[in-house]
Amino acid sequence: MKTPQSIGVGLLGLGVVGSGVAQALENHREPLACRVGAPLELRKVLVRDVEKQRPVSLPPHKLTKDAQQVLDDPAVQVVVELMGGESPAGEYIRGALERGKHVVTANKEVMAKDGPELLALADAKRLSLLFEGAVGGAIPIIGSLTKDFLGNQIHSIHAIINGTTNFILTRMAEEGMSGDEALRLAQDLGYAEADPSNDVEGLDAAYKLAILATLAFHSRVSPGEVFREGISRLHARDFRYASELGYAIKLLAIAKRDGAKVEVRVHPALVPEGHLLAKVSGVFNAVEVEGNLLGRTVFHGLGAGREPTTSAVLGDLVEIGRRLVANGEPSRAVQMEESLTVKAMSEVETRCYFRLNVPDRAGVLAQITRVLGDLNISIASIIQKDTDPTTQTAEIVITTHPSKEAAVQRSLALLGELDVVKEVSNMIRIEELPS
Ligand SMILES: NC(=O)c1ccc[n+]([C@@H]2O[C@H](COP(=O)([O-])OP(=O)(O)OC[C@H]3O[C@@H](n4cnc5c(N)ncnc54)[C@H](OP(=O)(O)O)[C@@H]3O)[C@@H](O)[C@H]2O)c1
Repeated sequence: MKTPQSIGVGLLGLGVVGSGVAQALENHREPLACRVGAPLELRKVLVRDVEKQRPVSLPPHKLTKDAQQVLDDPAVQVVVELMGGESPAGEYIRGALERGKHVVTANKEVMAKDGPELLALADAKRLSLLFEGAVGGAIPIIGSLTKDFLGNQIHSIHAIINGTTNFILTRMAEEGMSGDEALRLAQDLGYAEADPSNDVEGLDAAYKLAILATLAFHSRVSPGEVFREGISRLHARDFRYASELGYAIKLLAIAKRDGAKVEVRVHPALVPEGHLLAKVSGVFNAVEVEGNLLGRTVFHGLGAGREPTTSAVLGDLVEIGRRLVANGEPSRAVQMEESLTVKAMSEVETRCYFRLNVPDRAGVLAQITRVLGDLNISIASIIQKDTDPTTQTAEIVITTHPSKEAAVQRSLALLGELDVVKEVSNMIRIEELPS
C-alpha cells in the first residue's frame, strides 16, 4: 500500500459535535495535515435535513440524506459517526466496518450495548474503531484504559460522568435550589435537553460506566447490569445535612473489582468534602481510576459540549490518519509545525510576593516603594506582619501586579542595598491560575 495523498472522511451527523468536527477540518486544515502526514478531506456528510441552517457552511454537494452515499464512497476511508442513538447509527458503524472503513464515534449508547462485537469486527478486518468522545468529552479516559493503563490490574473507578446532573446538584448544594429549579436553569443554559430523563435517571452515566468497566476489567459489562438510581429524590435539605456532616452529594458512577466479581452502580452518594470528586462543580466531569501500579489518578475536565467532544473525535481521527499514512503503526515523532523561540526569563511577567525584614521605624516604606516604583513594579498590597521588640524589626509582605522578571531581579538587588532593609527574606512568584 502506498502513502495516501489525502485521507477521505465521511461524516454521519452535522449537529452539535458534527459541526464542530466539520469546522475544525475546514479551519485547521494545515496543522491537522501536518500532524497526520496527509490532508484530511471531508467528502460527504449525512444529515436528515439538507436545507437546515447550520453553524458551519459546507458546499451543498457535500450534504446528503442518503447514508449509502457516505458508506459506499470509495474515497471515504474513515467514517465519523456523530448522529447519536442506537439505530440506525449502530447499523451504519457496522456497515462502514464491513466495507473496510475505519470508524470514529462518540456514541455511548452503541458502544455500551454493542461495543465488544463492533470492536471484534474491526479487529477481524484489521480496522480501527475509536470512541474517545463517548465518555468524558475531552478527558482522555478511553485512551488511558485501552493503552496507558494496560500494565495495571484496575481496582476501581469512581466517576462523575454526567455534566447535566452535576450542574443540577451543584446548584442545589450551593444555592439551595430545588431539583426542578436547577433543572430548569440547566435547560435554559443549554446543559439539559427538553427531555432530561436519560441524564436525571442516570441512564447516560450507566452507558458510560458500562464502557469504562468493560475496558477496565477486560470483562463485558452491559448497561442493563449497572444498578441505577437517579437524582430526583434528592432534596435541598439533604445537601444541608450532608454538608453539616462534612460531605458533598454527587451522582457517582462506581465500578469496583471484588475478586471474580465486579460492582457497577450509578447513584447519588455522599462524598467526603476533602476528596477531589467532592470539588467537581457545574458541568465538569472527573474520573478517578485506582490500579495496582498507577495508584490513584484523577482526570478532570469538560465532559461534553461541542468543543471538548470535537477535541476527542479529532484526536481519534488524527490517530487513524497517521496509521493510514504509516501503513500500520504510526510514528510517534513530534511534527515540527512551527519554529517558536523560548522567551528569555528576564522577559517573563509574573506577579510577585516579597518578604522583607526591616527596622520597625518610620520612613521605611517610602524608600521601598520608591525602589519598586522606579522600576515600574506596581504594588498590589503591603502588609506589615510580625514585629520583634527585642531587635526592633518588622516583617513586611508586599505583593505586586505582573512585572517583568528583569525588573524584579533588579529590585531585589536594590532593596538589598537599602539601609532600611535588613534582609530580603524571600521572593516567590505568584501564578494566577484560572479558577
Ligand atoms: N453534544 C455533546 O455535548 C456530546 C458529548 C459527548 C458525546 N456526544 C455524542 O455525540 C453524538 C452526536 O451528538 P450531538 O449532540 O452532536 O447530536 P445532534 O446535535 O442531535 O446531531 C445529530 C446529527 O445527526 C443527524 N442525524 C440524526 N439522525 C439521523 C438520521 N437517521 N439520518 C440522517 N441524519 C441523522 C442530524 O441531522 P439534522 O441536523 O439534519 O437533524 C444531526 O445533524 C451522540 O452520540 C452523542 O451522544 C455528544
